[in-house]
Amino acid sequence: MTTTYRIAPSILSADFARLGEEVKNVIAAGADWIHFDVMDNHYVPNLTFGPMVCQALKPHAKTPAGVAVPIDVHLMVQPVDALAALFAQAGADLISFHPDASAHAHRSVQAIKAAGCQAGVVFNPAEPLDVLDWLMDDIDLILIMSVNPGFGGQSFIDSALRKVEHARKRIEASGRDIRLEVDGGIKPDNIRQVANAGADTFVAGSAIFGKPDYKAVIDQMRVALA
Ligand code: DX5
Ligand code: ZN
Repeated sequence: MTTTYRIAPSILSADFARLGEEVKNVIAAGADWIHFDVMDNHYVPNLTFGPMVCQALKPHAKTPAGVAVPIDVHLMVQPVDALAALFAQAGADLISFHPDASAHAHRSVQAIKAAGCQAGVVFNPAEPLDVLDWLMDDIDLILIMSVNPGFGGQSFIDSALRKVEHARKRIEASGRDIRLEVDGGIKPDNIRQVANAGADTFVAGSAIFGKPDYKAVIDQMRVALA
């Protein structure tokens, strides 16, 4: 079976003064998903944007031909459930949260799905995958952090590769269709290695928005994945 790889540019590294235009431009450059990093200055030491910004960007999240591009919300917030519901209303397609930020991780998954979104769980670099034992039947996505959450532009942490391998084994054992996404420090020169470990979806912020030609970077990533 051939894997369908997805590239999810993180607008954390976009020009916040022109966010709608940035979303349109990066989609025209070939983005498959828009990765939307929500930080609360509590779970992580940084503060970004909330559901109103997601709602404002939703009409821009489509291809030039008018096809909707999924908004992939990565919640770095504590607690989780109330904000997840607001993001579902604001047009999120996928919502991922950190299980250690939720008092009841399974309830958070249920809340996200009940609101009509796909649900993902996120693992920080030093966190084990243990909670997956009890969530695999219900989730749509696993997100492995390859940096500590809170900031763009950090270096890839190599131990994430081993964790991706472990997560891939769990997905295979489950027999379910679960996306395996990796977030942090991904660039054209390491994306192949991350794919080889078992990832199928790649978040990239500074690697794309830090360069003038977004399409050139996304094309380089696709060539590396081909
Ligand atoms: C970090 C965020 C990432 C960030 C990645 O907490 O979750 O999505 O934007 O940025 P880069 O690709 O620059 O490491
Ligand atoms: Zn992220």
